[in-house]
Amino acid sequence: MFTTQDAWNTGYANGRRYRRLSDSERSLLAAHVPAPVGGRALDVGCGVGELAAHLSSLGYRVDAVDWSDNALAEATARYGQAARWLCLDIEGDDPAPLHADGYDVITLRFVYPFLKNREHAMSSLSRRLRAGGALVVVTPLAAETPVERRGIALDENELARLRAGWSATARHDVEGLAFVVLRGSHPDGTTPRVEAPADPWAGPASPSTAADPPPSNRADAGSPRPRTTKGPPTVSPSDHG
Ligand SMILES: C[S@@+](CC[C@H](N)C(=O)[O-])C[C@H]1O[C@@H](n2cnc3c(N)ncnc32)[C@H](O)[C@@H]1O
Repeated sequence: MFTTQDAWNTGYANGRRYRRLSDSERSLLAAHVPAPVGGRALDVGCGVGELAAHLSSLGYRVDAVDWSDNALAEATARYGQAARWLCLDIEGDDPAPLHADGYDVITLRFVYPFLKNREHAMSSLSRRLRAGGALVVVTPLAAETPVERRGIALDENELARLRAGWSATARHDVEGLAFVVLRGSHPDGTTPRVEAPADPWAGPASPSTAADPPPSNRADAGSPRPRTTKGPPTVSPSDHG
């Protein structure tokens, strides 16, 4: 259920917020993706930043991406230096601000159903995983979502498609949500940390020694950038989460 950048941004301006991170989700994160030494995390569609801040509290250095500058302004105000807040369209913008050396965990919480091209986005993100890393998708279950909000959720076929072809996957259903962990090689045949193709979202061309950005770059939330209006707008963010 694709939704435009402007619609998300307006939703945040109007006070729309999403379900808080639950204790069950925190436990699953601790169990499945404990932070390795020097661990780095990417939270895609971070909204107002709660999960990104939680990943930071687990010991990760966190990059948090959203295309809503309103959401990122609030994330910065709430959680400050917990993450590097980046205003990006994960499906379309130049990914140069992402960390060149990849991530140990990439999270998408209440985001995957809204992607315009799910397979392509996941393929691109998978190439940003470090060896041994995991992609974590948290999303409402269609069977436990009112029919009028079905678009925010995944049904069994969509969940099977999400998991298909990965070397190792795990799924936990908690409180109406699917918590899915994907590891190993991606269905399109790529493995983490491989040579990048021309696709700008496809990750680093080779292992990099890129250092952390300087502190002055660490809080660029809400920095003005032109907003793009994307393809077919659909629903109001008030229908989400
Ligand atoms: C339902 S909200 C979830 C926010 C947050 N993950 C949470 O759990 O509260 C979905 C978020 O994804 C962001 N988003 C959707 N499509 C995006 C894209 N293509 N690039 C970056 N962010 C995107 C929206 O702006 C919104 O903040």
